[in-house]
Amino acid sequence: MTSDKIRLGVNIDHVATIRNARGGCHPDPVKAALVAVEAGANGITAHLREDRRHISDRDIDLLMARLSVPLNLEMAATAEMRDIALDHKPASACIVPEKRQELTTEGGLDVAGGYDHLAGYVTELRAANISVSLFIDPEEQQIRAAKKIGADKVELHTGAYADTTGRARAAELMRLKRGAELCQTLDLEVHAGHGLTYDIVEDIAAIPQFTEFNIGHFLIGEAIFTGLADSIRRMKTLMANGRDRCRNGAI
Ligand code: PXP
Repeated sequence: MTSDKIRLGVNIDHVATIRNARGGCHPDPVKAALVAVEAGANGITAHLREDRRHISDRDIDLLMARLSVPLNLEMAATAEMRDIALDHKPASACIVPEKRQELTTEGGLDVAGGYDHLAGYVTELRAANISVSLFIDPEEQQIRAAKKIGADKVELHTGAYADTTGRARAAELMRLKRGAELCQTLDLEVHAGHGLTYDIVEDIAAIPQFTEFNIGHFLIGEAIFTGLADSIRRMKTLMANGRDRCRNGAI
């Protein structure tokens, strides 16, 4: 599957990070989600972490009640998160690895290594009509395991691409491209996310198999300077530029 358009899922976790720094209710991540939708976000992503360092259970309740676009619930494959997902039935769940001490999601899920645990987990969520995505590194073994396990889609981790420069970055781009192509061959929907910024989003958008990007930290940071709606509109323009580039055969 290739697509003319790429959906943008706006991750609002770090609005909650700022709110929680003072323990009050401002800035409100639900309000940010509504502004994001108004500005063109095609979906909202929120990561309910085990330690509730940013998004809270109440945020998820309110997002489910008020959003007019799909909520993508990022979650670790724990019993607690499964119960919350089954209770709320978000449009999709993105399963991520989670370590308590990490600053952010540091690597992809080991689907191949955790196959037995994840297989039942994915089946349970899918049976409740929740579309399941697995957040993985762009590695053949992981992509094939995600397909075999019955996931609806994968999100390829773009963090390594974002964190490198020069030749290493070119190699990471190639890894993402090959991974996205393999997904297409396997008929697996493919998304991308982590560390995406204005500077790098076009190159990833030029890979035609990607149908959705999930972007948070950069958009929320940039909102300090230009406002959230403006940062979202600019990101969407750059995503469209990248997609045009591949349609015109420029890559
Ligand atoms: N996708 C997944 C699965 C993530 O865990 C994150 C970070 O929470 C993102 C996308 C968004 O990454 P960033 O905040 O760097 O844009």
